[in-house]
Amino acid sequence: MDSRHFEIFKELGFDDITPETMTNEYWAKRGARALALTTQTRDVYGCLDHTRGEGITLYDVEGTEYLDMTGGVAVRAFGIRYRPLADFESRISDVIHEFPGMDFDAIPQTLLAEKLASITPGDHQKQVVFTTSGGRAVEGCMKSAMDLSGRHRFVAFRPAFHGRTGYALALTASNSKHKTGFPQGVDVVRVFYPYCYRCPYGQTEEDCNLECVEALRYALEVEGNDIAATVMEPICGEGGIIVPPSKAVKGMYEVTKEFGGYFVSDEVQAGMGRTGKWCAIENHSVVPDYVSMAKALGGGYPLGASIGPAPMYTGPSRHSETFSAEPRMALIALWVLRHIEEGDFLRKNRENGEYLLRRLEELVEKHEVVGDARGIGLMAGIEIVKSKRGKEKAPKLRDRIIKHLVSKEHLWVLGAGQNVIRFTPSYVITPEEIDDAVDRLDRAIGAVTE
Ligand SMILES: Cc1ncc(COP(=O)(O)O)c(C=O)c1O
Repeated sequence: MDSRHFEIFKELGFDDITPETMTNEYWAKRGARALALTTQTRDVYGCLDHTRGEGITLYDVEGTEYLDMTGGVAVRAFGIRYRPLADFESRISDVIHEFPGMDFDAIPQTLLAEKLASITPGDHQKQVVFTTSGGRAVEGCMKSAMDLSGRHRFVAFRPAFHGRTGYALALTASNSKHKTGFPQGVDVVRVFYPYCYRCPYGQTEEDCNLECVEALRYALEVEGNDIAATVMEPICGEGGIIVPPSKAVKGMYEVTKEFGGYFVSDEVQAGMGRTGKWCAIENHSVVPDYVSMAKALGGGYPLGASIGPAPMYTGPSRHSETFSAEPRMALIALWVLRHIEEGDFLRKNRENGEYLLRRLEELVEKHEVVGDARGIGLMAGIEIVKSKRGKEKAPKLRDRIIKHLVSKEHLWVLGAGQNVIRFTPSYVITPEEIDDAVDRLDRAIGAVTE
């Protein structure tokens, strides 16, 4: 951090923030006192320097340089400080950004809604509600599905992650800390996510009779079949980067339709071109009724969208948010979408993703503790196990590998599920950077297990 930024802190009244306080230890203590967050693992990750970074390189306050494989948990489509985006932002710096889109029309949000309708699957007429988070994007879809169907029971999966508040939390099942002690906001029929590496029905791919789909039908028959919608991640993200077979996703869709429900594809993590398609559900050839989007959509700003069939409500719309696609955010989102198209990032993400997966598969061959590698496009992960044969989950070993990766190999990487290491890098990653990242992972697994 240079002197200019210390001056900024001073200007804001923080005279105590000096070069001497630039240690991870100092900020871990101060952060722990001030913040009540679920996911900070301060014994692994240092405090990020918010003034430095470029592409997929970031720094902590001590100046250590890291290669970033999280992409800001799938938020940063084009990496840090992407010059073309910064140039665009400076050209629209005079745009008014606090026009409340929910009360008054302004051109950018209408254009963004039209654009989102055109890139999401299906030729049907769509409408959009803008939100400020992924969880709320899911809830916008849920409220519309309840209003249109007159029902309020949902199908969700185990594991699944759809958000941490209200109705979205009711669907989430990825870690008990999110839910224990909090009431269930809406009725949920929960079935296993299609997870072939650990088929909950004990089947192999050859013997599979889509028991998971039949389990959904059975659950609806015995628990209540008046479902408003099934909400499904096209790739299960927080739950462990699980890629379901397309035939299972299609089966879940068909059973949902049999029972008169809507189908929501939660694209908050996997969407926005990450898998090489605008929406990850396209990889399964399913056309959902609703799509929830967020993360990469806002170009780094908090913007989500619930995209559904028009009209989304039986009468006038009954849902909106104060900060609803403010003009500046909407223009930035339009720029992000256009740049993905013009920069051919769908193809690049597909090709780089295939390369990443090939490299991760080499680790399955090489290391006894790497049980599986899977992913589509730039959403991939490896599963850490005690042994390939027994497939017992090895969460502590996974945590040790991640700690080694961050502290010794300087690879900024996150876990997912109970024993998975996840890769959701920015779309600007090159094959050379993929090689570098996988080599660091390879060395870390070797070092921790030898
Ligand atoms: C698939 C999915 N849905 C919803 C959410 C919730 O998004 P937010 O944290 O912006 O509320 C996430 C966040 O990781 C997600 O991965």
